[in-house]
Amino acid sequence: MQLISDIQAMSEQIDKWRKQNLSIGFVPTMGYLHEGHLSLVKAAKENDKVVLSIFVNPMQFGPKEDLASYPRDLKRDTKLCEENGVDIIFSPTAEQMYPQNFSTYVDMNSISDKLCGASRKGHFRGVCTVLMKLFNIVRPHNVYFGQKDAQQCAVVKHMIEDLNLNLKLKICPIIREEDKLAKSSRNVYLNEKERKAALVLSKAIFLGENLVKNGQRNPKIIIEEMKKELLKEKLAKIDYVSLVHPKTMQELEWIENEVLGAIAVFIGKTRLIDNFLIQELQ
Ligand code: PAF
Repeated sequence: MQLISDIQAMSEQIDKWRKQNLSIGFVPTMGYLHEGHLSLVKAAKENDKVVLSIFVNPMQFGPKEDLASYPRDLKRDTKLCEENGVDIIFSPTAEQMYPQNFSTYVDMNSISDKLCGASRKGHFRGVCTVLMKLFNIVRPHNVYFGQKDAQQCAVVKHMIEDLNLNLKLKICPIIREEDKLAKSSRNVYLNEKERKAALVLSKAIFLGENLVKNGQRNPKIIIEEMKKELLKEKLAKIDYVSLVHPKTMQELEWIENEVLGAIAVFIGKTRLIDNFLIQELQ
């Protein structure tokens, strides 16, 4: 396995692979890898080559967010990538990605200003911009994202369609801890008490999902019940609980055929997200 941090060197390696007609699977990450990321790597093994990027993208963090403290451990990540058959870790520096005169952005209307986009202003502009750059450098055939970041998946899908990007988006299921907490690099921030408290997220998610599956179609009632569940936990502070259309992220008045139930909750200072997706209701 190679570790490449230089953009030019990465690009040259991709040229070689492309000339040999090898298919390239790409897993973009911010590092501090967990089983969620590794499930994406496993899926990406359907390609001839797998590139995983590690870049804590400053552009997608707000001024009061956790850019400085975001967990980083390149040595551990490298070992995990080696063990899981990644061919290249691409880990560029912020200086290379955003030189001083950097001034081009990828922005999106409508679906990126809801949910996480509403509480994290500019977040998806940062995500889209960095992904556009990474896609151009790595030139993958297939890209792999986790359903845990449901809105990010919808935003990327939209960007690929809007900008006619020549790559396929593959979305992989949420990976959970044994006690059902969704895996996230940010779980490491939680102390023992908070870690227990964080279980309230998946409880609320499963409650909402079961209500829909058992026939409830009124989003207001489901949201109310999910909020009640979340507020049973004293350490939880709700950012949002929303039932939206999975493609547009528009709030639903009534559940017809498909629904994304998405929540963001602070446990102490740590903001965690989780969701359920139902794509075809009878
Ligand atoms: O999901 C993430 O880790 C990041 O948003 C991504 C896609 C790597 C872009 O920085």
